[in-house]
Amino acid sequence: MARLRKAGRVWRREEARSAARSVLIDHQDGYFTISPERIFERAAPLEIEIGAGRGDFIVARAAEYPDRNFLAVELSDPVAKMLAVRCGAARLANLKVARMDARPLVNLMLSAQSVSRHHIYFPDPWPKERHHKHRLFTPCFAAGLRRTIAPGGEVRVATDVAEYADEIVRVLVAAGFRRAEGPVPGADKTAFGRKFVAIGKTTFAGKFVADKSSIDHGID
Ligand SMILES: C[S@@+](CC[C@H](N)C(=O)[O-])C[C@H]1O[C@@H](n2cnc3c(N)ncnc32)[C@H](O)[C@@H]1O
Repeated sequence: MARLRKAGRVWRREEARSAARSVLIDHQDGYFTISPERIFERAAPLEIEIGAGRGDFIVARAAEYPDRNFLAVELSDPVAKMLAVRCGAARLANLKVARMDARPLVNLMLSAQSVSRHHIYFPDPWPKERHHKHRLFTPCFAAGLRRTIAPGGEVRVATDVAEYADEIVRVLVAAGFRRAEGPVPGADKTAFGRKFVAIGKTTFAGKFVADKSSIDHGID
């Protein structure tokens, strides 16, 4: 925290900003940015599914909402290949697949307030305590979700692990989200969601909106 405050103080000095600008690579030059308008060749509300797996949910949702753009993000190369085959077979102009780690996408590459919905269903739970550091939901990732969510946008999440559900709520609230009422239809429409419904396993789902009182940390 002290370091963040110090950085804020330094950044307020014009000569410091000027020195920094002489070396900082501009986000707009394409090094660190992803341009949904260019990818989809149109401007439209953007929904992202992080860890899309087989793509059951996002293919159906993209077909249901042709007026929105959908990006399926998947880290695993073989899973992303199968996902791309399924999404490609759906022949939907509003659906694209990115084989990448969602963390740099959310933390760095997407513009501030550019995503109308983030869908994150059954992120890997990493159940052993010594592996918790590999979990997707960290304060840093939650801050990235907050930065990228558009006004009126939502983060929709589901997990089958009660303790991870508590942790997800905690980091999202700390990042400036509040829990909102309403269903999370994606939670039982993904492959994992369907499997859990079929075996009668309890799952935890929630949707989160930006808390109006929270500060927007977007840089751009
Ligand atoms: C448990 S599976 C759930 C898949 C799908 N959401 C479902 O409910 O059927 C988690 C998925 O997230 C992907 N994943 C894990 N870490 C990721 C990351 N950092 N970025 C993108 N995808 C990730 C995994 O490869 C895996 O396909």
